[in-house]
Amino acid sequence: MVKFVGKINTAVFISGRGSNLKNLIKFSEKKISPIKIILVVTNNKNAKGLNFAKNKKIPFLINNFKNKTLSENKTIKRIKKNKIELICLAGFMKILTSNFIKKYKHPILNIHPSLLPKYKGLNTHQRVINNNEQFTGSTVHLVNSKLDSGKIILQRKIKILKNDNPKTLEKKILKLEHKLYPDAILKLLANF
Ligand code: GRF
Repeated sequence: MVKFVGKINTAVFISGRGSNLKNLIKFSEKKISPIKIILVVTNNKNAKGLNFAKNKKIPFLINNFKNKTLSENKTIKRIKKNKIELICLAGFMKILTSNFIKKYKHPILNIHPSLLPKYKGLNTHQRVINNNEQFTGSTVHLVNSKLDSGKIILQRKIKILKNDNPKTLEKKILKLEHKLYPDAILKLLANF
């Protein structure tokens, strides 16, 4: 088994429901987990997922990202202050600028509900169904300055069944993601 020296200070960025955040918090509490979630960042003050941070008394930062430069600068400042060495985007609906990515010297991960490089962007489930795909899935990748395009860390797929629709796919993929994201973090950090 891989041994980690201490846990890595981690921030999770969310915009809405936060089921991946909830699951990452659960994962971070396990002994084998290499991460410690010490900050949640959101652009949406009404994000449901903030409740998971509140319940666990994890500090959170709300920046609306309307003025991107200002919000990113405030976020970077806090992230540096908290010595955060891993950022996990989990349903974060804002695109980070290349300036942010350049300034932040540690890995930024994102989870995207498709088999990248296919179906970057939004409405993936509807698009895979429209295209009669046989498989779909989810991907954890490093974030670079192009949307959903950084190096793939881990990906898992499921078969699309005849009676699947965007709702059923979303449900199945979320379930898969709750295992995929922790596994991807373990894989990424094992190589450091
Ligand atoms: C997930 O499907 C993730 O892949 C995508 O946004 C969704 C977020 O869900 N980027 P949740 O907010 O974690 O429940």
